[in-house]
Amino acid sequence: MPRSLLVQITLASFIVSACALPAAPPTPAPPPASAPSASTPEPAEPKAPAAKPEKLTVLCTPQEDWCQAMTKAFQEQFGIQTSYIRLSSGEALAKLRATKDNPEFSVWWGGPVDTYVAASTEDLLEPYVSPNAAEIPSEYKDPNGLWTGVYVGALGFCSNREALSKLGVEKPDSWEDLLDPKLKGQVAMAHPASSGTAYTAVWTQVTRLGSVDAAFDYLKKLHQNILQYTKSGSAPGQMAGRGEVAVSVIFSHDCVKFADEGMNMLEVSFPAEGTGYEIGGVALIKGAPEPEAAKMWIDWVLTASAQEIGPTVKSYQLPTNPNAKVSERSVKLSEIKLVNYDFQEAGKNRKAITKRFEDEITTAPQ
Ligand code: F6P
Repeated sequence: MPRSLLVQITLASFIVSACALPAAPPTPAPPPASAPSASTPEPAEPKAPAAKPEKLTVLCTPQEDWCQAMTKAFQEQFGIQTSYIRLSSGEALAKLRATKDNPEFSVWWGGPVDTYVAASTEDLLEPYVSPNAAEIPSEYKDPNGLWTGVYVGALGFCSNREALSKLGVEKPDSWEDLLDPKLKGQVAMAHPASSGTAYTAVWTQVTRLGSVDAAFDYLKKLHQNILQYTKSGSAPGQMAGRGEVAVSVIFSHDCVKFADEGMNMLEVSFPAEGTGYEIGGVALIKGAPEPEAAKMWIDWVLTASAQEIGPTVKSYQLPTNPNAKVSERSVKLSEIKLVNYDFQEAGKNRKAITKRFEDEITTAPQ
């Protein structure tokens, strides 16, 4: 399915109800993706069950070409006919909710785990602890097996060098820099109701500023410079690549991907105050029509070899399996400042925050 770009949307369908938000307790920042551990053996490839499953339908949230490469590799390796549909995180959640009584998908792969937490609060996920999850560091997996981390990425600014220079603005290296009046109509990010990337950006403000109210004060100011809230999280990076805006707020690996694919005016920077990050997840869907194949997929995407497919299609997220090779194009987490991002709190508050965003930000005058 082709990826939708640059779609200004109204997102009332994603919104349920508002509630008061507790302060987010601090959580430890993740360790940088570590070098392979010599003592840890590569996990076993998943074993096909006695009666081999015939097909698998994957709900896929990363870039289209990575979804294609993964489903093709899995199909070739296991002889299971594998198809996927690519949906942004909030769309995926809405789809799971709408098909709860008759699920279309068996496994959900990719997208920040905040939305997996939100899905689990609505009983849309089935716990599954893969034997291969033993390889994955504990900070990258849910203790109850509701989701397991498959990659990590950091939020950053993706700017068009030429557009910035025409405006006489330096490359941003602070959240406050995005509020520069010279950037009016020159900033893009996605809508947090549809996009996990944008939700990460919003929760990052909650974390760094200490409260939801303070975050919304900042977002209201930022709104003055926003040209568009897109549906998909990475689309603003392409807008910056085409010169439609000077700055976008996206995951840094998507900016590197677009630059490597020819948008060579793009460059990444990070806010000195601290930035948010994602753990991209995988989970078994409750009532999955193909549960055995879905478990095989989960086992497989946790292996080092499956996690090394991303860079072959210029998807440079950091692998969660410490035995997977790390691309030189991947972000070095030890070189940037991360906020103490609490995925549980972020996920539990997703509905309320996205509703408030729709009510207070997208409708505000510019
Ligand atoms: O484009 C890839 C990616 O940035 C992933 O790293 C991330 O998990 C996903 O997109 C989020 O997509 P969206 O913001 O559209 O939900």
